[in-house]
Amino acid sequence: MTGLTTPYTLKSLSLRNRMVVSPMCQYSLQGGLTGDYHLVHLGRFALGGFGLVMVEATGITPTGRITYGCPGLWDDNHVAGLHRITSFLHAYGAAAGIQLAHAGRKASTLPPWLIGTSETEPHAETWRPVAPSPIPHSAASQTPQALTEAAMDDLIAAWAAAAGRADRAGFDMVEIHGAHGYLLHQFLSPVANQRTDRFGGSLENRIRFPLAVIAAIRAAWPAPKPLFLRISAEDGLPGGWTVDDAVIFCRRAGELGVDVVDVSAGGFDGATIRPAPGMFLANAARIRAECGVQTMAVGLMGDVAMADAALCDGKADLVALGRAALDDPNWALHAYRALGQESPQVWNRQSGYAIDRWPMRPAGGNAV
Ligand SMILES: Cc1cc2nc3c(=O)[nH]c(=O)nc-3n(C[C@H](O)[C@H](O)[C@H](O)COP(=O)(O)O)c2cc1C
Repeated sequence: MTGLTTPYTLKSLSLRNRMVVSPMCQYSLQGGLTGDYHLVHLGRFALGGFGLVMVEATGITPTGRITYGCPGLWDDNHVAGLHRITSFLHAYGAAAGIQLAHAGRKASTLPPWLIGTSETEPHAETWRPVAPSPIPHSAASQTPQALTEAAMDDLIAAWAAAAGRADRAGFDMVEIHGAHGYLLHQFLSPVANQRTDRFGGSLENRIRFPLAVIAAIRAAWPAPKPLFLRISAEDGLPGGWTVDDAVIFCRRAGELGVDVVDVSAGGFDGATIRPAPGMFLANAARIRAECGVQTMAVGLMGDVAMADAALCDGKADLVALGRAALDDPNWALHAYRALGQESPQVWNRQSGYAIDRWPMRPAGGNAV
């Protein structure tokens, strides 16, 4: 039976288990350059036994970043910092992934901890965001500039170039961010896309730009390396994108070479997505069954038995953890224990030795 601790192979990607750290923004950088913070933040999940550790939403252009503190891959000088991270992850048994993103009209915001405060940061910057249509994300957001076709072509090229840099940085997989109300999702959904050209209106038109991005990335990303796509399977808004639309899109994405769909939901202002354990699992199972792709389940999957059962029941191929991993970077190691499969080999040698064999000293004895 395939569960959380079953190794996973897909093309050249080889994972020691099916537990994945979901991409999570840290808003903690300058100029898109990763350094010590990210090495430690992400490295601890490799030591914590996860099979795949993913870098957060990474801007393919400076203006595609959610905030000025987000990482980037728009320039060759971003490669070295990320390479240091992938080398560490590999050295400690985890595969390395990165999410390539453009935030569209949700770009140019502040780190969440600064919103609503009078606090600022010396390197803070904002800019005018771009989007399919000049419709702001919320009452508090800037009105974006509508993209011209020439600007869209430039973005496609930037996405492909970022994928090439991700390869040079040593990543084993990339994920295209097509979810959470960011640029590609803005094209997909009639909520944000009111274009009257061949990129707006019908479903066929709305999926056109995201599919062009997928095709360009697939061409730039080495064929043996898997390509993941994160989607919001539904908007949770009246008149919005639905799971039926998502099924059609994912089929087409699969035909273009997407291997795994990472199934999330929501992202637009006012969306009604009720949080509950395994909340997106049914959509992951449907997309897996109907679209010829594998799926990654995410969304309050932190109950080990539930997450294990989701894989055993064939609803998904991988399980991604967000907040549960932040809360417990050793979540994957603890999952082995909870499933009765603990062995010294799953801990890194330094910790496994200490946990299994370090002599216990009586009180007042020699310090260990
Ligand atoms: C701090 C934080 C930052 C996040 N940043 C991203 C991101 O960069 N890209 C993304 O697709 N999702 C992002 N998410 C969503 C997570 O990847 C995940 O889908 C979500 O938290 C649900 O999983 P969970 O219930 O295990 O936390 C973020 C979530 C958190 C908590």
